[in-house]
Amino acid sequence: MDISTICIHGCKKKFDTTGSVATPIFASATFAHPGVGQSTGFDYSRSLNPTNVHLEDTVAALEGGTEAIAFSSGMAAVSTLMELFSPGDHIIASDDLYGGTFRLFERVSHKNGVNFSYAATPKDMEKEIIKSTKAIFLETPSNPMMHVIDIAAVAAIAKKHNLLFIVDNTFLTPYFQKPFSLGADIILHSGTKYLGGHNDTLSGFLVVKNDELLEKLRFIAKTTGGCLSPFDAFLVIRGIKTLAIRMERSQETAQKIVSWLLEQSAVKKVYYPGLKEHPDYEISLRQTSGFGGMISFSVQNEQTAIKILESVKVIKYAESLGGVESLITYPMLQTHADLPESNRRARGIDECLLRLSVGLESADDLIADLNQALGN
Ligand SMILES: Cc1ncc(COP(=O)(O)O)c(C=O)c1O
Repeated sequence: MDISTICIHGCKKKFDTTGSVATPIFASATFAHPGVGQSTGFDYSRSLNPTNVHLEDTVAALEGGTEAIAFSSGMAAVSTLMELFSPGDHIIASDDLYGGTFRLFERVSHKNGVNFSYAATPKDMEKEIIKSTKAIFLETPSNPMMHVIDIAAVAAIAKKHNLLFIVDNTFLTPYFQKPFSLGADIILHSGTKYLGGHNDTLSGFLVVKNDELLEKLRFIAKTTGGCLSPFDAFLVIRGIKTLAIRMERSQETAQKIVSWLLEQSAVKKVYYPGLKEHPDYEISLRQTSGFGGMISFSVQNEQTAIKILESVKVIKYAESLGGVESLITYPMLQTHADLPESNRRARGIDECLLRLSVGLESADDLIADLNQALGN
């Protein structure tokens, strides 16, 4: 079945008998038992809820996993994941990470005894492996510098050293990138972004293809309680129905904006994996079926960056990405504000860097908006 059909009909289970085409919202915290020791399959919504199961099955089908678990946010999914590890364990992560993930690793998980090393390439990741290493955590393309890491190469290293391999697939979604087919063990999503797609709800997912991992994660999820509300699950189910056309349109517009940005004298560098000059272009061609709708770019100075942020009208100056509304972000002050300054600067996240999430407005209107914001 094509992925655009899975987006709409990914869940085969039906939990009502009315023929309702839209998925009903089962707004029930708890479920009555038919008899002592008996269950309808649903007992309490922190563990399982029919609306959530519909969403979880859809996300699992999209990623080619066996099951997915829905969370109240992407960070709730990462926090649950971290509970797989014990004090003394070591994890290697890609060095350009969403700032909130880095903050969780360094300020929460580290306090709980888990240690982290960061590296940019599969080769450097392998060099970081020590006796206590248990996992490799990857974000590709990375947030916000758009580095692309060879997923299959990292999977081979993880396999060789018997490490769990986790990929955050938020930026490209299964529409453009399938980490399981390249060797990942767990796929993570901030469903707040492209899966939900409308900037109207938070959500997160862990997707697995292995029953033992699923059992461990379901146990942690029901015990720690970061579950998604069925109302929000409904919104994400609805959002996913249009994932395919949203991803296509966002990418098409992003490519037009990239071409325009490259012609602007005030723009010093454009970071987009679809550019032939991008250092990881060949890897992208191999492992993805598209380059997505996220663009980062550096302008000539801080004043220009601030002018753009304060002058855009159609594009909103706001944190987040992947929704129908185009958003422009100042990573230094927003998504990556908690990174130590030297670390942030070394990665190129400075006062000149902006990140643009291209939504579904007309490409001409978005370019006109950026043009007036640049004062052209
Ligand atoms: C790549 C990535 N992963 C995870 C998260 C965390 O997701 P949430 O904001 O839904 O908690 C984000 C948020 O921006 C992100 O960009």
